[in-house]
Amino acid sequence: MIILGIESTCDETSVGIVKGGTEVISFVVASSAAMHEKYGGIVPEVAAREQVKCMVPVLKEALNGSSFAKIDAIAVAYGPGLIGSLIIGVETAKALALTLNKPLVKVNHLVGHVYANWLARPTDLPKFPAVALVVSGGHTDLVLMKKHGQFTWLGGTLDDAAGEAFDKVSRVLGLGYPGGPEIEKIAAQVGVGSQRKFNLPLPMINSGNFDFSFSGLKTAMVRLSLTLAKKDVPIAAFEFQDAVVKVLTKKTLAAAKKFNTKSIIVGGGVSASAALRDQLLTSSRKNNIVCFFPEKKFSTDNGAMIASAAYFNFIKINPLKLQSDSSLYF
Ligand code: KG4
Ligand code: ZN
Repeated sequence: MIILGIESTCDETSVGIVKGGTEVISFVVASSAAMHEKYGGIVPEVAAREQVKCMVPVLKEALNGSSFAKIDAIAVAYGPGLIGSLIIGVETAKALALTLNKPLVKVNHLVGHVYANWLARPTDLPKFPAVALVVSGGHTDLVLMKKHGQFTWLGGTLDDAAGEAFDKVSRVLGLGYPGGPEIEKIAAQVGVGSQRKFNLPLPMINSGNFDFSFSGLKTAMVRLSLTLAKKDVPIAAFEFQDAVVKVLTKKTLAAAKKFNTKSIIVGGGVSASAALRDQLLTSSRKNNIVCFFPEKKFSTDNGAMIASAAYFNFIKINPLKLQSDSSLYF
């Protein structure tokens, strides 16, 4: 089965065409991230207008000259996200399903991030039970996945999401947007074994549950930035990144051990972080748990992950009944 997946929850307009949930036939992403850079964060109205502008050209490019005839179903991320952005993808998907007379499948964007791990991976797929860490600009959640589509929420952030903290800290350090890749780039100037300079908190690392908090760490960085010498920006970025990664790694592994899972699955924009990959892969290996990260290009928002999630969870919906849900959760 070939599914066309549409993603428009935030500042990426993306369409992916995926066969059998794993084989990516095509995938196109247009991002308005650069337009938000001068504001240090997303401006919802600008993001929504860019969605309108990009949706049809992105669809056309993903089809790559072929018709809709080969597409068996249309899938769309219907939440969570920015409402102005969301409705562009959802209404486009509804119109396509109705006019082409194809089934419409609704996908939770967060579930989509988990399924990024099935893309371009025909064998050695994640095994259940699995614990999934969804770590993005808007979310930081740990969920237990007993089988396809069955998610039990274990815990999540009480305040800022990890990606959001990366974005805000990047801004106060005078770096660009999105913050994660900028902090990663400048932190790479610092050697892993180098002397610690700042005494940053490792929030809730020993809380004994699966909740997170990143706002205190963010505030510590804001305060530090007020007196920080320019030459110390790389070390501050490195230590901030390391603090976030340490907490994410420890809690994810603790969840996997508590529920005796066969796999750890990581998804969402922050899963592009090389530091998170290194620490979590190393700790998982030591504990004989197989840890999965998506290919870097599938870490951030894309339509292919939506098509994959739809294949494994074929939740068909009447196009006339589907509505965008900006606060959808697990
Ligand atoms: O999943 P995503 O594309 O959008 C949401 O659903 O929010 O995630 C975007 C987030 C941003 O906060 C960005 O700073 C973060 O992912 N991110 C990273 C890296 N690449 C993207 N965070 C840390 N390290 C990275 N390399
Ligand atoms: Zn996302």
